[in-house]
Formats: sequence, structure tokens, C-alpha cells
Amino acid sequence: MTVNMFRLAYVDFLSKDPTNMVEYYTDTMGYRITEEQDGITYLSNGYDHHNIVITPSDKQAIRSYGYQLDGKLSLEEVQEKFIASGIDSRIHEDAKPGVARFIELNDPAGNTIELFTEIDQPAVGFSGVGISPLKLGHVAFLANNYEETITFYKDVLGFTFTDKIGESFANFLTCNTDHHVLNIIAADETRLHHIAFQVKDASHQYAASDLLAKHGRPIIWGPSRHTAGSNIATYHRDPDENVVELYTDMDVYVPELNIFEPRPWHTEMPYKPKVWDNLSVWGTEYQFDLAKI
Ligand SMILES: [Fe+2]
Repeated sequence: MTVNMFRLAYVDFLSKDPTNMVEYYTDTMGYRITEEQDGITYLSNGYDHHNIVITPSDKQAIRSYGYQLDGKLSLEEVQEKFIASGIDSRIHEDAKPGVARFIELNDPAGNTIELFTEIDQPAVGFSGVGISPLKLGHVAFLANNYEETITFYKDVLGFTFTDKIGESFANFLTCNTDHHVLNIIAADETRLHHIAFQVKDASHQYAASDLLAKHGRPIIWGPSRHTAGSNIATYHRDPDENVVELYTDMDVYVPELNIFEPRPWHTEMPYKPKVWDNLSVWGTEYQFDLAKI
């Protein structure tokens, strides 16, 4: 039996501007605060104890990424697998509100990841204000040793490789049926590239853009349909300048067939994992000034 996780459950931000980050996640994104402890704020997308954590800090960074395991192996059994692979890990008890036990380890890029089988689910519901995305869907991060990092997520954590953009630029991996849960970008440093939330459909995306405009958060790219993943995406920045993607229409991976479920906008059939050479199906570049045509 292999280590098997099935979702990205939370992202814990180190924030230089926690007051405005919490305000952004409550008023703009529509998340609900479930707990505040030691200055750290836990926010929920409706069901889990937290999907976003804002931890005050003197730097802007990611404190940890939290993934939920399928529970077929105990944390001790998972740790035995890591030991067999020569990977250092620590089991924590009562170290984080909402997650009674988790394994902490570092990926080869230096990210801290927390793996757990259970998270409290207070089911606080949706707030009815703000964007209220359906879920936290994926993260993209720059990795200074991306090949080793990709191998780690595939071989140690059981992720499946889907698409690439360029031979090495962006590498998409999944641990469920979403086209990607992770996007690992080759770089000479490790940091977050963007965090992404799924919205309901195009009308939800448009309404979200209006809401972002009201909150003074301009769209910096999009909407356009990506090649890898087919997701229609917009990007904006949070108060800490992290890039946030709102997307819909992401490809659904069928692992048994190694294809994506057919969609009318696909350019070939079957639609299989492949290497892409550009970002946008629509040819959107956003490099020119529309006012000057
Ligand atoms: Fe993305």
C-alpha cells in the first residue's frame, strides 16, 4: 500500500500584513473565521476547520501546505514509508487547532508540508458575502530543484504527472481527478507562484471580477482559457502581493484511461497529458494596450 493523499486542504501563510489578509479573506473571498489563537487566524471555505491560515510574520512566505491522506495507512505507517525512503519527518500531536495529529516533512524544494488523516469539520457554511469560491484547488510554486521535487511528489507522495508547459517550465501534478493540484515551476528559488480557488462558472468569475474591482484589486491576467488544464482563469493580488487565481472549467482527469474527460473546447480527442508550448488556448497575451488600437 502506498502513501495516498486526495486533496490540498489548506495553505498556511506567513503574513506581513495579517490584518488586511484576514479582511481580504473574509470580506472579499467570503471565508469564515473558525478560530483565532496566538494571533493566528483560521479561515474556512464552509466545511473544514481551516483552508487558509494567516500567521503573522515579518516576512511574506508560505509556512506550510496541508494535504489530507486517505486514512488507509496510519500516520505511523506513513512515517515508516518515509523512513524506508530515507526521508526525515516528524509526527506532531495537538500542534495545530483543527488538526489533532499530522506528519510534518519538507519537500526537496524546502517547502514544509503537513499530512493528516483527519481535520475538524465544524461546517460553518458559506458567509454569503464576497466571492465564496467552491474550494481551494491548487497551488503553483517555483522550485529551485524542480526535477527532484517532481520525483518526490510522484514517487513518495503518489501524485500523477499530467501536463507540462515547455520541457521544464511548468509541471502539473494531481492527487485526485482535478487536472492539477500542484504546478511546479522550474526556477532558481523556492516560493509561491500563485494559489488558486475554483469558482462555480463563468458568471461567478465575472461577478468575482466586479467584486475585486470594488475592493481595489485589479485583474492582472485573464480571463483566458489555459492550455494545460483548460481552466478559464483570472489572476489578482492579495494584500501581501501573493498572486491569486480564480478558475472554472478545469479538465477532469480519468486515471484509468490516462485521458481527460472530453469537452467541446478540446482541440483533439482523446485529450491526453502532453507538453504545451504556450499558456492560452485563446491566444490571450495581454501585452498590448487595447486603448491604442
Ligand atoms: Fe493555476
